Amino acid sequence: MENVFKRDIARHLIQAVEAAYKDRFEDIAAFFKVEPEKLEDFLYGKIERPRDHKMGDFAFPAFFLAGVLKEKPPVIAANIAEKLEVSGYSITGPYINFTVTVPDLAKEVLPGIHREGNAYGSQKVGQEKNIVIDFSSPNIAKPFGVGHLRSTALGNSLYRLYHKLGYNTIGINHLGDWGTQFGKMIVAFQKWGDEAELKKKPIDTLFDLYVRFHSEEEENPALGDEARTAFKGLEEGDKEATALWNLFKEYSLEEFQRIYDTLGVRFDHYTGESFYNDKTEPAVNRLKEAGLAVESEGALVVKLDDFDMTPCLLKKADGATLYATRDLAGIFFRHEQFHFDKAIYVVGSAQREHFKQVFKVVELLGEDYADRLVHVEFGWIRFKDQAMSTRKGNIVFLDDVINTAVEKATQIIKSKNPNLPDLDKTARTVALGAIIFADLGVKKHKDVNFSWEEVLNFEGETGPYLQYTHARLSALLRKFGGSVKPDVDFDQYESFEEKELLLQLYRFGQVVESAAKKYEPSMMAEYLLELAAVFNRFYQRKDAEGRLIKIISDDEKATRARMLLIAAVQTVLKEGLYLLGIEAPEEM
Ligand code: ARG
Repeated sequence: MENVFKRDIARHLIQAVEAAYKDRFEDIAAFFKVEPEKLEDFLYGKIERPRDHKMGDFAFPAFFLAGVLKEKPPVIAANIAEKLEVSGYSITGPYINFTVTVPDLAKEVLPGIHREGNAYGSQKVGQEKNIVIDFSSPNIAKPFGVGHLRSTALGNSLYRLYHKLGYNTIGINHLGDWGTQFGKMIVAFQKWGDEAELKKKPIDTLFDLYVRFHSEEEENPALGDEARTAFKGLEEGDKEATALWNLFKEYSLEEFQRIYDTLGVRFDHYTGESFYNDKTEPAVNRLKEAGLAVESEGALVVKLDDFDMTPCLLKKADGATLYATRDLAGIFFRHEQFHFDKAIYVVGSAQREHFKQVFKVVELLGEDYADRLVHVEFGWIRFKDQAMSTRKGNIVFLDDVINTAVEKATQIIKSKNPNLPDLDKTARTVALGAIIFADLGVKKHKDVNFSWEEVLNFEGETGPYLQYTHARLSALLRKFGGSVKPDVDFDQYESFEEKELLLQLYRFGQVVESAAKKYEPSMMAEYLLELAAVFNRFYQRKDAEGRLIKIISDDEKATRARMLLIAAVQTVLKEGLYLLGIEAPEEM
């Protein structure tokens, strides 16, 4: 959506700047390195929301022109304001503040939301552009832990956000399905494994075997050699090894799929590390031909000392390829296949060095897309209360987290709304909302401190709080019963609370854009909390005598106007939650 008010203000501002500083206009453009024709867009980008609403609805901070104009900011503000050909502005210090009327705002915002529905806030900036998002990417033979949950939740949200900006999004699950650990798995399974058990609980079983292998290897180091031989066999296509590997993969994928279905996450491609088996050799050859790959102590590496990095390992002495080799092959392949505008990797900060190395190698090859490779990294999830026991290996299993959340959500909902028709389904939705929001509500580089008390608090800054707000909006619409129409009397909107709500709705598209561009779904999370808070203030509005103003009353005109607003809040809240990967129940 075009931000008309800001557009309008920018148009007036540019005229005023030109009138006030005719002979400095070129200087200003040069100073900020923008074309004079683009200066209006530049000013548009500077318009912000005043910190104090009493100042106005939009503010132009004139002080950023002080450097070029060499005048005091309040003087600049006054000079520009003097030439403004609009009314409804005021000056406070270095700011020029603009105010819009509530009916104007409502006219601008509400019919649009009514018409566009969940497409409200969409853009076309990404049209014809591909964005590749590598996310979730768990390892077969290791449990789906909460660490992968963060990648899954963040990646899924970025996928939806970019899609809303019009990009063609390609979600890739780069499964960890290759590497020396599969030699260990094969040996362990041959010695202690059981197919029936594997089929029943693949990830658990494989992880048990993995753990057992490591503890037995301490007593019996020869196991390590067996594993290396087994992996070599696998790489060379040995029948039995391959059959076992296929089994591990097939059963694990089934279990992952179940988790993804629960979370409502989907991928366009499940191309794991093994997908690149026949692509690593050509990739390595490219690096050799470019003179980048060199031998070092029997291994093949790209030296990165000049950049203060350890070498990027391409091949071990025994010829086996590595994680980095497969990522390099993956980058070449993805570029060839998708000509991506950006390729992003949603992976924890523990792999920062790895991605730095790999991206550096692509840069050294002279590929122009090297600077369009992005590592979106994130912090850890920590469990505050001990209620969540870690199973073997100190890993918190996502499955356990989900089950605990469902149990707790069921209890809470039962006590609040004993007659809810579809308790099980709603409890699941709320449980997942709590978990995902706990993850995305925090800036991605920060660690998440997960506590059940907090994440399931219906009144806190939580997913369930937003879902509950959505359910309340839905209840109001049900109670109203009629159909909401956009041709209301816009003069009905007059209160401060309504204005706040309308301004918040107006901002939605910008938040979608910034959250995507900064790879920061937490900006959407924060926006939604604010939307819910502003709505609740509107909902609890009192009249002059201190009586609650009913949304649905005998005053038909007022009711119709309020319901249009309510429906708009519901639409935006639901769509915002969707962009985070969270479902919005109608009732709870
Ligand atoms: N499987 C890896 C892990 O769990 C994450 C893979 C991320 N994607 C990539 N292209 N390297 O640590």
